[in-house]
Amino acid sequence: MSDDQPTKKIQIHFKPLPKQVECLKYLKDDTTRFILYGGSKGSGKSRLGCSWLILNCLQYPSTRWMMGRARLQDLYKTTFQTFQQIVKEWGLEDIVQINFQRNIITFKGYESQIFMLDLYPDPSDLEYNNMSGLELTGAFIDELSDIDHKAFEIIKTLIRYRLKEYGLTPKILMASNPCQGWPFDLIYKPWEEGRLPSDYQFVQAFTADNTYLGEDYVKQLGTMEEGSQKERLLHGSWYYASNENELFDRDAVTQSFYNQRKTFDNNWYISCDVADLGEDYTVIVLWQGWHIVSVEKLRVDQVELASRIKALMSLFHVPVRNVIFDANGSGAAMPTLVRGSVRYIPHMRALKEEKYKTIKAQLMYNFARHFKQADISFGLEYNDDVVKELCAYKKRIKNDIHDVSLKQEVKNYLKRSPDTADALYMRSYFDYRPSTGGGFSIIN
Ligand SMILES: Nc1ncnc2c1ncn2[C@@H]1O[C@H](COP(=O)(O)OP(=O)(O)OP(=O)(O)O)[C@@H](O)[C@H]1O
Ligand SMILES: [Mg+2]
Repeated sequence: MSDDQPTKKIQIHFKPLPKQVECLKYLKDDTTRFILYGGSKGSGKSRLGCSWLILNCLQYPSTRWMMGRARLQDLYKTTFQTFQQIVKEWGLEDIVQINFQRNIITFKGYESQIFMLDLYPDPSDLEYNNMSGLELTGAFIDELSDIDHKAFEIIKTLIRYRLKEYGLTPKILMASNPCQGWPFDLIYKPWEEGRLPSDYQFVQAFTADNTYLGEDYVKQLGTMEEGSQKERLLHGSWYYASNENELFDRDAVTQSFYNQRKTFDNNWYISCDVADLGEDYTVIVLWQGWHIVSVEKLRVDQVELASRIKALMSLFHVPVRNVIFDANGSGAAMPTLVRGSVRYIPHMRALKEEKYKTIKAQLMYNFARHFKQADISFGLEYNDDVVKELCAYKKRIKNDIHDVSLKQEVKNYLKRSPDTADALYMRSYFDYRPSTGGGFSIIN
């Protein structure tokens, strides 16, 4: 310990939950190396991980730890908030120093460090070479399902710093809500079947196990719509049904807020859903390829809207043939105000004889596929409302003809209009337009 160790005596009041105690037992033993704390929402995962890191930093001076999540920005918004809460509760403000430029937490006087890492694969560094020089004493990965198995494999090789000196066993603590990706195959399924290797442990925790949660929180979770997400997040089921009526894959849509921009199409596009008279918002989406550059929600008349669109077109050099309006109802005049744009009417027939009830169903199915393929990326902060709007649209299949929920059904479900979803999916129209043959427009 260095000389500038604070003289103040630290008194820590850590009262772990029984499931956290079970986990801490594995974090201390000599055999376990990988522990998955897999549970429902609010089951104390982040709290456990942060507490464990802090205790280690205090107990083992000059050690190095990792706190990782797929996206650093999410780590700061979630796990790091829990970390700060604990620092405050335990009175460690004078000891814990945070370098936000380097994303390193240092324990003054103890010289232990926590590296906060972004574990999302960078397309230019799929081998995670950026981590290659790193040596760690241990690691905590929050929301494991968001990271690649490859990242886990690499992190395994980094846990070697000062272990011998302290007689420690290398440990990786992982936390995850139930998921159907690699953590399910690698840990949950083998645990359930009693064939988990001896250096792995799984601790199953449920929301109800966390007695620190307020009644309101649990009540709020209870109000979730019955279905797979409730199964998964409240009841902690790893076998939540992937609903066969699901059109948009929720995880894929969520992931699109963190996807890197794909560059196979660099053209600019604008898709715009014009508000119905007196209600809803007009939404303008600016795209580069499948990257969402901006989403504007406005209450403007059609003349003002046309001038806003023209301003965007000139600023970003968007060709008018790449501008599409939902010209149903109150948007009817838009294509005349922005001449040469695509006038789109959702209940028109599907294109190219495909078996969809309407062009809207066809474009929505296509849009859902682009999410699945991780083509779509948002240049915007995560927005749960957008995810909810898209996922509120379901498949409707009758006599082999594919359709989607009626807009009114979606409105009833959301208790508002899915304005953003309706502006977004129209981008798919440009997949169906031949790239040559100038002037072709299905409806205009
Ligand atoms: N041992 C504990 N002592 C005090 N508070 C705790 C403890 N364990 C959990 N909590 C509190 O319970 C709440 C939920 O815990 P936490 O955020 O760790 O859950 P989580 O499983 O990470 O949730 P999510 O699924 O939303 O990520 C937090 O307010 C946290 O501070
Ligand atoms: Mg958490």
